[in-house]
Amino acid sequence: MLEGKNITLYVTGSIAAYKALILTRFLMKRKANVRVVMTTSAQKFVTPLSFQTLSKNSVLTDQNSGSNFSKIDHIELAQWTDLAIIAPITADFIGKIANGLADDFASSSLLATSAPKIIAPAMNDQMWTNSAVQRNIKILQDDGIRIINPGTGFLAEGYEGTGRMAEPDEIINSIESMFVEHSILEGKKVIVTAGGTRERIDPVRFIGNDSSGKMGYSIAKAFYELGADVTLISGPTKLDPLVGINIVPVTNVKQLKEEVELGFKSCDILVMAAAVADFKPVKTSKQKIKKDPRNDLWEIKLEKTPDILKSIAKIKSTNQIIVGFAAETENIIINATKKLMDKSLDLVVANDVSKPGVGFNGDTNQVTFITKDSKPETTALLSKKEIAELVVKRVENLMNDRKSSK
Ligand code: CTP
Repeated sequence: MLEGKNITLYVTGSIAAYKALILTRFLMKRKANVRVVMTTSAQKFVTPLSFQTLSKNSVLTDQNSGSNFSKIDHIELAQWTDLAIIAPITADFIGKIANGLADDFASSSLLATSAPKIIAPAMNDQMWTNSAVQRNIKILQDDGIRIINPGTGFLAEGYEGTGRMAEPDEIINSIESMFVEHSILEGKKVIVTAGGTRERIDPVRFIGNDSSGKMGYSIAKAFYELGADVTLISGPTKLDPLVGINIVPVTNVKQLKEEVELGFKSCDILVMAAAVADFKPVKTSKQKIKKDPRNDLWEIKLEKTPDILKSIAKIKSTNQIIVGFAAETENIIINATKKLMDKSLDLVVANDVSKPGVGFNGDTNQVTFITKDSKPETTALLSKKEIAELVVKRVENLMNDRKSSK
């Protein structure tokens, strides 16, 4: 999460400066690019050489950046920074940045950077509760700076109190949470159907199809990774269950329809990736059907199964999004657009299942996305994981468009 991020750590004059060394190590372990700025008083507690050794970058101080400080250095650093952390920050430095002062390298560079900022105060308990400090903290909060409150514990003064700088792992958690991108899909209820259905002929035979379930499982996983609450209604597959995803096993169209209808009422998004049988035997024999020695032909009478998406379309509310698949072997776009309209879908993921590497069973797929409002778009031949991420991205875009048009 922090890999390749440019993080500037500002260290000010407090005994807690030693914890900033641990914080530097934690940042380096996460492969962040770290540059450290030290105030003159910070250098009385720890040396620039310690930070230089850990961060593999020379440390910027008032002393080494020009006569007082070089304007070029502090602007260059300000522009380079993706996130600025001031840990520890003293009462004095809090006052300085709350009032926009810029009388040393650290404060000048902070004033020049538009990067998000986190501070971890460290001071005596009386200083921390002092109304002037709290007033300054409030200013910083209102300016959008994240404050990691000091903890309670043994202070340098030799007694218990509130003022100890937060521990480096707490600071790291806070830093990582700033880089998490929030998706509109977070917390949304999603139903994904996957795999093929089986319609029984007799106790040992059924009508099935080639679906492996891989596409649906990959889609369920991609939604889950963006924070959605996912239920996977799955026909029989050889795939392992997915951690964090509620799996509802089904075998035939009747069961699949019941489960989809049950869950649909309270869901935000339905993705029908299951390969649903279109026909089922009119009768299922309770006993194994024996060969007839007088007849080389065996006919099974089939009847149509209900179209699940068509019946769901009747109870769909305007806030819900339904994604259907279209397995085609010819006239892909025409046939899939017809499915979009007939089944009242928001998105159709169409695949030409006659092409090698596309559709059922394999690990790859190539799809065309069809919606009402945009031109069909065909992907390259990609892994099912990559296709799943594109499907989920499309759904995310549809939801964002709806939100902004409200
Ligand atoms: N589907 C459904 N109920 C069915 C058959 C299909 O809900 N009885 C869903 C599938 O899960 C898929 C979409 O409808 O999301 C299209 O399925 P597909 O098999 O491509 O098409 P069909 O509607 O079955 O039409 P056809 O077989 O004539 O192409």
